[in-house]
Amino acid sequence: MAKKIAPSILAADFGHLAKAVSQVEAAGADYIHIDVMDGRFVPNITVGVPVVKTLSKLTSLPLDVHLMIEEPERYLDDFAHAGSSIIVVHAEVCRHLHRAIQHIKELGLKAGAALNPGSPLSLAEFVLPDLDLLVIMTVNPGFGGQRFIPACLPKITAARQLIDAAKANVELEVDGGINLNTIEMAAQAGADVFVVGTGIFNEKSIHDTINSMRKLVGA
Ligand code: DX5
Ligand code: ZN
Repeated sequence: MAKKIAPSILAADFGHLAKAVSQVEAAGADYIHIDVMDGRFVPNITVGVPVVKTLSKLTSLPLDVHLMIEEPERYLDDFAHAGSSIIVVHAEVCRHLHRAIQHIKELGLKAGAALNPGSPLSLAEFVLPDLDLLVIMTVNPGFGGQRFIPACLPKITAARQLIDAAKANVELEVDGGINLNTIEMAAQAGADVFVVGTGIFNEKSIHDTINSMRKLVGA
């Protein structure tokens, strides 16, 4: 599977989101990753439906919408209508994960499930054939700019093995603390999609950083 870079706009200058999106698009980004936080599932509050809607008009790249919210089922329709391409829900908050995934697919979108660093892979194992994206969090969700947790590497490897053994058509995404120093080990562990926030937007050249990352992961 082709390796993909998904810049997280959480680390961009919110006063110039349109510029940030066009910069990463010009630099060859594959997805735009949008971090939606509710102050309950995670301690932080970020953006919601109106920002997804605005961004969908600014780019032709797929919007990878990462819902870090309680009861995500209540908001799937709204985020779909706002222009999301992929909706990711956390397995920890979905009492009916299978149902939530089916709902996302019925809305015509790609469905993803995310796992916190402390969550077992088995939480998503039996929905694997229904998923388009499996997200292994490599930080505790809630904030950009945290350090990659190396203890998550064996879970990336195990997820890779699970996907390959099942011959499932699922992209394996890693999210949190990915930068020029950590991206290679995540790629070696088997990740396909790399969410990068501060590791792109805090660098001097967005273009050069994305290019270097592509080289490091062999994309
Ligand atoms: C963390 C979010 C991430 C975050 C990544 O809760 O899910 O997507 O934006 O930021 P960095 O790349 O700075 O760790
Ligand atoms: Zn995210």
